[in-house]
Amino acid sequence: MIDLRDRVVLITGAAGGIGSATARTIVQAGGAVVLNDVSVPPLRALADEIGDPARVIVADLGSGHAVDALWRDALAIHGRIDVLVNNAGIYPEARLSDPLDDWLRVWQRSLAVNLLAPAILCRAAVATFAGQPDGGIVINLASRAAFRGEDPDYWHYAAAKAGVVALTRTIARQNGRQGVTAFAIAPGYVDTAFNHVYAEQVGVEGAARDTGLGEVAQPQDVANVVAFLASGLARHATGTTIDVNGASYVR
Ligand SMILES: NC(=O)c1ccc[n+]([C@@H]2O[C@H](COP(=O)([O-])OP(=O)(O)OC[C@H]3O[C@@H](n4cnc5c(N)ncnc54)[C@H](O)[C@@H]3O)[C@@H](O)[C@H]2O)c1
Repeated sequence: MIDLRDRVVLITGAAGGIGSATARTIVQAGGAVVLNDVSVPPLRALADEIGDPARVIVADLGSGHAVDALWRDALAIHGRIDVLVNNAGIYPEARLSDPLDDWLRVWQRSLAVNLLAPAILCRAAVATFAGQPDGGIVINLASRAAFRGEDPDYWHYAAAKAGVVALTRTIARQNGRQGVTAFAIAPGYVDTAFNHVYAEQVGVEGAARDTGLGEVAQPQDVANVVAFLASGLARHATGTTIDVNGASYVR
């Protein structure tokens, strides 16, 4: 049922756990992918594994102009982009006891990568999608943290992801008539390198106990939802946020 033939999907943070599972899933459903990451070896390895349907653009999304250039370069590859998946994200610690300058540096980097980069790509995407006969789909990776809140060292992350949800809703409300639909996905704990500090200090079991399913999500659980939203089958659900957290937080 999910048919992504003739669809071009730009995925940021594609070398990571959720990004790489998403890339493989999109390609299995027939799509072509433009893969972005700042981490070059795993990105190239993924592109080699996928082969022809994959193209690679290395860019650091911490720089606004690099983000804008990423969209232009990605668009130039196939002459169109049908789906934007804002997936790149970081989770650095900013302890409340840290000196203000250090704390602020982490906030600024987090907001640049977790909120501003998705916003810049959405800005470019709505302009492009409005000029495409079939419009386009925005899929933003938010987080349970946007709703449930986060641990004290990660205020910046919760705030950035709440911003991503608000941005997504605004695009859905304002740009639907130009053919743009927009969705957010809010994972809970997903078993990727993103959580390596927690996994080392507490153990994955701690996160699993917190869920209704008694297990944490795997990257494929999120990738499946991305593929479904990318298919266009959920058009009238535009503006929604899909929780993928094993009922660790039920809204
Ligand atoms: N893993 C989780 O528990 C979890 C929970 C909720 C939300 N999320 C969100 O899901 C998304 C993917 O997370 P993941 O678990 O796959 O993490 P991951 O760490 O496995 O992958 C993230 C990828 O983003 C890339 N990246 C980081 N900074 C970048 C930059 N400046 N420019 C380009 N690429 C950059 C990294 O190199 C990495 O490949 C993130 O937005 C994250 O916030 C993850």
